[in-house]
Order: sequence, then structure tokens, then C-alpha cells
Amino acid sequence: MNPQSDPSEDIWIFGYGSLIWRPDFEFAERQDGFIRDYARRFWQGSTDHRGSPELPGRVVTLIEQRGSICWGTAFRVRSEETAAVLGGLDQRESGGFRREQVKVSVPLEQDRGQEILAQLYLAPAENPNYLGPDPLPVIAERICVAHGPSGPNVEYLLELARALREMGAEDEHVFSLEALVRDRQGRGWGGGKPEAS
Ligand code: SIN
Repeated sequence: MNPQSDPSEDIWIFGYGSLIWRPDFEFAERQDGFIRDYARRFWQGSTDHRGSPELPGRVVTLIEQRGSICWGTAFRVRSEETAAVLGGLDQRESGGFRREQVKVSVPLEQDRGQEILAQLYLAPAENPNYLGPDPLPVIAERICVAHGPSGPNVEYLLELARALREMGAEDEHVFSLEALVRDRQGRGWGGGKPEAS
């Protein structure tokens, strides 16, 4: 069930995956921040953006994990644009994601040392595209080969890692996958330089 919002008020949307580096919607302001008790995982299958029904890609979802924090970006959407933006995002995230409400902590050194109430898109374990955990090398291998209408799966991972690094966020899961993928690319996997034979 999607959270209801007052149509006369601006809303915030919290992105923790592709929404960080490719929001692709109208917003009035953006603030990096984090949510508590969630961890980002490449456990959601993508058949519509970064893979296909035959070879699903791997994109991020959130799992509940006490004590973890997940960094991302909160976007303020003006009240008059809310319906169009949520309509577009509901369509974009229709491969298993649902909207939920969360509290985003925005660090003190930015102009708002406070919590923002935001909506995010989360793909729960019971959705049909959910792939769940696998060893990191298995996930990295899939990311190297999957490709969908939005582009190569590897671009999704590398852009996310770049954006997280830029905001100074720690994410061992994402950075470990990035290292594995770069290693494979260096050895001629995933569109990188072919190995000499
Ligand atoms: C998000 O970016 O917040 C949701 C997952 C995705 O679209 O990558």
C-alpha cells in the first residue's frame, strides 16, 4: 500500500539506488542523508531495466537490519509536481517495488540537521523478481553480463558506487561488488579489455 500524501504539500523522495545518480524527475532541492536500520543489497532482479526475463540483472533493494545505516539522497518535489513525479516513478519502479515512508537523517553540517519524512521504493522479498542473497562473486558475475533496456547492469553498479563515494558514504556491499567487477573487467569480462591469449 503506497503512503498517502497531502496534495497541497511538497513531498520528499529518498533514493538509494539509481534514483541517486539518475533521478530523471523534477525536484526543487536535494539533500544527502541516511536512513537507519536498513542495508542496501543487490538482491532484486531486474527484467525491465538492467536485464531481461531470460537473464535478470541485479539492482538494489533494502533489507531491514538493526544498527545499519543506508546513505542516499532525498529530493524535495513541489506539491504541483507530486502527482506526475509519483506516477512516473511508480511506473519506473513497477518491477517489484512498493512505496514506503521513512525518516531520513540529514547531517548537521548541511543546512538542516534534522529528520525528513520521505517516501522510498523498496522491493520486498515476496515480489516475483526478488533474487535474494548469493555469494558476492556470483552477484558480480551476473552484473558483468546482464543488459536491459536502460543499459548494462555494470553501469548501474559503477555509477552507484561513484555517487556514494562522492557523498562520502560507506557501503561495504556495494564497494566489494565494484572491486570484483573491476577485477573481472580488467581480465576481459563485462566489456573490458580482452585477455591476451
Ligand atoms: C532507488 O533508487 O531508490 C530504488 C532502486 C532503483 O531504482 O535503483
